[in-house]
Amino acid sequence: MTTPNIEKNNELFKLVNIAFQVGENKILNDITADINSSGITGIIGPSGAGKSTFLRLLNKLISPSEGKIFYKTQDTKDIPPQIIRKEIGLVQQRPFLFNGTIKENILYGPKIWAIEYSDNDLIQLLQKVALGKEFLNRQVEGLSGGEQQRVSLARSLANRPYVLLLDEPTSSLDINSEEIIETTLKQLNQEGIKIIIVTHSLEQTERLTESILFLREGKLIEKISTDNFFSKYDINEIHSFFKEKITEEKK
Ligand SMILES: Nc1ncnc2c1ncn2[C@@H]1O[C@H](COP(=O)(O)OP(=O)(O)OP(=O)(O)O)[C@@H](O)[C@H]1O
Ligand SMILES: [Mg+2]
Repeated sequence: MTTPNIEKNNELFKLVNIAFQVGENKILNDITADINSSGITGIIGPSGAGKSTFLRLLNKLISPSEGKIFYKTQDTKDIPPQIIRKEIGLVQQRPFLFNGTIKENILYGPKIWAIEYSDNDLIQLLQKVALGKEFLNRQVEGLSGGEQQRVSLARSLANRPYVLLLDEPTSSLDINSEEIIETTLKQLNQEGIKIIIVTHSLEQTERLTESILFLREGKLIEKISTDNFFSKYDINEIHSFFKEKITEEKK
């Protein structure tokens, strides 16, 4: 596959004066940012800040009302959607799986792209997302929310994306599964897959990410290294950004 202007520099995405508007409502407003391709990038901010909308813009599920988004220095409006779909995997906040087995769901993309998987390969893929081999031929119907999340992640990984956009991928998982997924994400990143993750968990942000985009009310408040973020703000300030999650965690 030809990849436009690949790796001329470290720039993965560049957003210039992005707005996304529905009717009168500016959901994202005047966002300018570079996302470079080293390390995992975290997107954080309170509920309703525009995080999921931001991810959807990056893989062209929606288009900006204003501004430009560049992917590897090329204007995304000039990149065919199917190239974007192949290169940039999005695991959405609410998993969408079609009826059928997990295997059928996972193989949907690879069939389009003529990527071959043996059952053994698929079992290894399931392991990476903390699912046992017994899941391979199970029907999607009846899966728990956390299992659906993991199947969605496996389905994205099966396409061998260059970039992985993850919208709260561990929000319904127990600590063990979360740990396995985080290990997988770190490994994938080391292997060269670029990862942008929306998370409500400060601990996860600290464990996984190298840099942070902090959104609030549709605006980019900060783009900052994770180290600097945690040294710049005291913990009470950071908690106040995430009030709703902290309250939940204190339950
Ligand atoms: N298509 C749409 N039409 C109308 N409003 C929308 C649309 N998409 C998003 N919004 C609104 O824009 C705001 C940002 O939504 P978004 O889903 O991006 O937030 P978020 O930061 O991901 O929140 P959460 O942490 O709860 O997932 C919300 O108030 C949402 O209701
Ligand atoms: Mg969201």
